Amino acid sequence: MKFFIDTADIGEIRQANQLKILDGITTNPTLIAKTGRPFMEVVEEILAEVPDKPVSLEVASTDFEGMVKEAEILAKLGDNVVIKVPMTIDGLKTVKYLEERGIKTNMTLIFSPTQALLAMKAGATYISPFVGRLDDISQNGMELISQIRTIVDNYGFTSEIIVASIRHPMHVLEAALIGADIATIPYKVIAQLSKHPLTDIGLERFLKDWQSVPEKPF
Ligand code: E4P
Repeated sequence: MKFFIDTADIGEIRQANQLKILDGITTNPTLIAKTGRPFMEVVEEILAEVPDKPVSLEVASTDFEGMVKEAEILAKLGDNVVIKVPMTIDGLKTVKYLEERGIKTNMTLIFSPTQALLAMKAGATYISPFVGRLDDISQNGMELISQIRTIVDNYGFTSEIIVASIRHPMHVLEAALIGADIATIPYKVIAQLSKHPLTDIGLERFLKDWQSVPEKPF
């Protein structure tokens, strides 16, 4: 299972990258806006930090011509740039167009299995179903991941499933149990994955008992 980080914050990206478990980055306009910094400055820093890992950058137009124009600008920024395209009819045309020209795509804002099916038919490199936002409106986000997994396995689609809009460690666990290819995880949740109260209690006890061991080498 690949771990992407869902952020445009260079500090968080560096911290996650130091763990050596990072396989890619996803951003979106909201995450870029949160940094409060100029777009190109943020993107150049991210691409310099992870020149060999996929970095999803999202287009801001909604029509085919506009999305293609923006995608071509973004794709020139690095070989590892993946163009994030919203799930719309024009978005589907854009994905097909870009994939045919060797530009990788990530179809985003997917909330139903039929949207996922269309994105895979269009040839998206990645598809991003949003689990947290479905949970927020009392629909089962992880059920969508199971359904998409079944569709991929039924037909052998090559698109990789990125579980997006992850809110907590259980989303990551369930994604792993279902067999999603990738989880794109906020830094806070990556840190939470390492935590267990029994680990803290056990470590405290070991450190205390270590004090009474005689003739220690260190
Ligand atoms: C996916 O690529 C999106 O950037 C992201 O996961 C959206 O998450 P949110 O619902 O927490 O905004």
